[in-house]
Amino acid sequence: MLTLAIESSCDDTAAAVLASPDQVLSNVISSQFEVHAPFGGIVPELASRAHIQAIWPVVNQALAEAEVSLADIDLIAATQGPGLVGSLLVGFTFAKALAMVLEIPCVGVDHMAGHLLSPLLAGKISFPYTALVVSGGNTSLFTVQGETSFTRIGRTRDDAAGEAFDKVAKLLGLGYPGGPAVSRAASQGDPEAFAFPRAWLDRGNSGSGKTSLDFSFSGLKTSVVNTVNQYRQKEQPVPVADICASFEAAVVEVLVTKTIRAARQNSHTRIALGGGVACNQYLRTEMERACRANRIKLFLPDPIFCTDNAAMIGLAGLYSYRAGQVVALDDDAYSRSPLY
Ligand code: KG4
Repeated sequence: MLTLAIESSCDDTAAAVLASPDQVLSNVISSQFEVHAPFGGIVPELASRAHIQAIWPVVNQALAEAEVSLADIDLIAATQGPGLVGSLLVGFTFAKALAMVLEIPCVGVDHMAGHLLSPLLAGKISFPYTALVVSGGNTSLFTVQGETSFTRIGRTRDDAAGEAFDKVAKLLGLGYPGGPAVSRAASQGDPEAFAFPRAWLDRGNSGSGKTSLDFSFSGLKTSVVNTVNQYRQKEQPVPVADICASFEAAVVEVLVTKTIRAARQNSHTRIALGGGVACNQYLRTEMERACRANRIKLFLPDPIFCTDNAAMIGLAGLYSYRAGQVVALDDDAYSRSPLY
């Protein structure tokens, strides 16, 4: 079954063709980096317009790279939510219209489901497993019981980890997107130079006595802001590399500790990562080390499948279709995920 997948939830227009869940024939991503960089963050209206311009060329390129034509496609999968509604509507409406013209089914995919299932693109992980989705908009822990069965067990109560990376980068003038820039600077710094706070939220979610699996990164961000301001007020040079390294170490320690804790609480022997921050090399190394120490198998998707991509949407869409889900022509995009 040949699936054409479309992703347009945020600032990347992406299309992919899959022959089966672990057979990605093409995976094309058009980044809007240059559109948003001058503003230091995503401008939703500009994102929608850029999607409109990119969608046909990106779909055509995905078909060409897969060496198939539209007439060969059996199923269309498109991100239905969550994300920027104006952006989502471009890809989702395009997908529904194309499916109607081709007289083939169309499935709406939850972007989170794509991230949760992305380790399956490499074909080796089996259920159940603990998944950490860590990106610009999300920092959540899930148990993944099956192809269409997910339960959220932890979430951020304020900023997402990627958002914190982006804000720290902006504060230090490192550019956008911030994650890779902070990470590059961090590689030259001392992770113990500053003792930035780790929010463990150890009193539990609901007084149940269980340790919380929720996250909070706004206190850490404020602590970085205060530190930088102290240097600026004294007109002293800001030790950018040391601040980045200490900030990255704080984020990674919390992410790793809570993910391992989640897996152990659920007696899972497998952990998977997804989302843009899962490209972070320090996080990958530390998670590997912790998993080895706890005899847990770690599944790290290729970086290209961690950031927003359509291959994971095709995979999740194919599973949803097999479970009997298709969209109606008047189904709408949604900004908040029922999974989140
Ligand atoms: O999943 P993703 O592509 O999409 C959105 O959430 O929109 O994730 C993007 C996020 C951004 O916040 C970016 O700064 C962060 O992932 N990111 C990183 C790294 N690469 C991307 N954060 C830390 N280290 C990285 N190497």
